[in-house]
Amino acid sequence: MSKWLTVCGAAAVSAFVFMGGAAVETASGVGAALPAAMQEASSSTLDGVFTSAQARRGRRVYNQNCASCHGQELTGGEMAPSVAGAGFIVYWTEVPVGVLFDRIKMTMPEDGPGRLSDEEYTDVVAYMLDRSDYPSGETELPADKAEMDKIMIVAGE
Ligand code: HEC
Repeated sequence: MSKWLTVCGAAAVSAFVFMGGAAVETASGVGAALPAAMQEASSSTLDGVFTSAQARRGRRVYNQNCASCHGQELTGGEMAPSVAGAGFIVYWTEVPVGVLFDRIKMTMPEDGPGRLSDEEYTDVVAYMLDRSDYPSGETELPADKAEMDKIMIVAGE
C-alpha cells in the first residue's frame, strides 16, 4: 500500500479505496486497478504510444458512440464530464492507460456498455489521448489491457 501510494501520487489515490489490495469503485468511478500492474509501467503517454491514423479511427468511433453525451469537442455535456484535456487528465494522472480502457469498456457508452470491440475502445482511447495533446508516434496503442497497463498517464506539459 505505501509503495503504491508513492508510485501513484495523490490524484490517483483520491480515486481509489483499497480493500485487501483490490481497488473498489468509488464515486469518481475509476474501475478496478492492479497495483502490481502500475509498478510495471514502463512508458508514459508522453512517449508517442498511439498513431495519428489510430486517433482518426477513434474519432469516428467517438462521434458515433460518445459525442452525443460527451460533446463533439470532448468537453462534456449536461450530464457527462469532459473526456479530454487538463480537466480530465487531472483525474487520471498516474493511472495506467489499461485502467482507463477498462473503465470505458465496462461502463461506456452509458446506454450500452461493452457494445464496442476492444479495438474500437482502444482507438477511442487513442483519440482521447490525442485530444489531450499527447504526442502520436510510430506504434499503435495495442488493444490489450495488459499491454496498456504498462503505459502510465502522466500530466501533460
Ligand atoms: C448516454 C450518455 C453517454 C454516452 C453515449 C457515453 N457516456 Fe461516458 N459518461 C456518461 C456519464 C453520465 C458519465 C458520468 C457518470 C459515470 O462516471 O459513469 C460518463 C463518464 C465517462 C468517463 C469517466 C470520466 C471521468 O473522468 O471520470 C469516461 C472516460 C467516459 N464516460 C467515456 C466515454 C466514451 C469513450 C464513450 C463512447 C464509447 C462514452 N463515454 C459514451 C455518459 C455517456
